Amino acid sequence: MGFYGEQIVPRIINKACGGKTAEPLRRRVCAGLAGEVVELGFGSGHNVPFYPAAVTRVTAVEPSDVGWRLAAARVKAAAVPVQRSGLDGQSLPFPDDSFDAALSTWTLCTIPDVGAALLEVRRVLKPGGALRFLEHGLAPDEPVRRWQRRLEPVQYRLAGGCRFTRPIVDLLTTAGFTIGEVDVFYEQGAPKFAAADSLGIAVSA
Ligand SMILES: C[S@@+](CC[C@H](N)C(=O)[O-])C[C@H]1O[C@@H](n2cnc3c(N)ncnc32)[C@H](O)[C@@H]1O
Repeated sequence: MGFYGEQIVPRIINKACGGKTAEPLRRRVCAGLAGEVVELGFGSGHNVPFYPAAVTRVTAVEPSDVGWRLAAARVKAAAVPVQRSGLDGQSLPFPDDSFDAALSTWTLCTIPDVGAALLEVRRVLKPGGALRFLEHGLAPDEPVRRWQRRLEPVQYRLAGGCRFTRPIVDLLTTAGFTIGEVDVFYEQGAPKFAAADSLGIAVSA
């Protein structure tokens, strides 16, 4: 990865993901988390203020050192211990059945082999554990999908490998998750091609 990917992209992500409008969505996706939690694509820690009191520890998986450094103040202020213990969601350095819950927000768009990452999340979740997800992906409407396909190559280059057209729910079910609940909507204040969100709970058998 070059200078742009290492130094600039995490700072852009920190700003782009740190908006006030995302906060109610972060609160919603984090509600219900409890026990030992693994967070995939921790970024600069924008979910930290929304971890419920029932969470005992968060294990952050994040490849970007800059992202982790930008998270420092939030990690320090966290009400629960947060440690960075993994660098790549595609290969998690944890034993099977390690976590009560998992969290992923706007990350499944970027992990190169997202199928492998979801299998890893299932492996490290205890049976019956749930992945709480908030992800942008393939839009429900064809005219928006056309724009997503047109703009995806630019997005991929500028935003560290982010794709617009990943079918989030299909990816989760293909990995063996059962969708407990899901809400699909366009996030307010952003262009639809970048804001086709899925927020829900995927349960590992
Ligand atoms: C758009 S950002 C979202 C960050 C954070 N989840 C949030 O909601 O603010 C995507 C994150 O996925 C991370 N990422 C990229 N490849 C990854 C991988 N293979 N495993 C885990 N995280 C990855 C990026 O470094 C980045 O922090």
